Amino acid sequence: MIGIFDSGSGGEFTQEALKRAFPSADTLLYSDRKNAPFGTKTEKELIKITKDGITRLTDRGADVVLLACCTASTVHHLLPDAERERSIPIIGAVAKEALSLTEGRIAVLATEATVRSHAFKKALGDRCAIEIAASELVGMVERGEADGSATAEAEYFLRLRLSALEGVGCDALILGCTHFPRLGGTIIGIAEEISKRKIIAVSSTDCAVKELLQRLGGAPVGEGRHRTI
Ligand code: DGL
Repeated sequence: MIGIFDSGSGGEFTQEALKRAFPSADTLLYSDRKNAPFGTKTEKELIKITKDGITRLTDRGADVVLLACCTASTVHHLLPDAERERSIPIIGAVAKEALSLTEGRIAVLATEATVRSHAFKKALGDRCAIEIAASELVGMVERGEADGSATAEAEYFLRLRLSALEGVGCDALILGCTHFPRLGGTIIGIAEEISKRKIIAVSSTDCAVKELLQRLGGAPVGEGRHRTI
């Protein structure tokens, strides 16, 4: 059984994506809303939250835990051996996918904690154009105020943050938080308008599905049971 760890709705989007990709897999989702948002937590807090999340899922039968949450994935290398070995972080996979999609430079939109860790920058090297923090979007998606057709508030906020792309010259934008693909169309539309060029969207959720497939060496098979704790 595949455990999925996230701070909220992003985990539900990931479980939906796994269900579509592997209909006969068994998944167990833990969206730790009690500790959300993760994106404004310290590194020490994130290590504890992520360690506890992995334990909770494995105690309930998960064989492996997908750290769908990019913010939690940034502390994977700092976890104790037992939790590190039982979990799959996704930052490296997202960066690899972005590097394979363009030969140009890549921008990152993520939570404050992810940007602070520079995990994407380390994985992208000199192809990283800029890392932009946008933790406020998490709450907007979580409250259901911003769906595929973003609210005026979300659009205003995105225009403000993505103005950092002006003159930067990037060809791809990593949606480096499980909550962001929900607003992918709006985010990319505004990014293209500001940067005046075509931008490729790289969804961390899609990369999570691919990474799982690769790490397991094939599609997970079970009884098609998808549960939440
Ligand atoms: N969805 C998480 C991520 O992928 C973090 C959201 C939060 O701040 O709780 O980074």
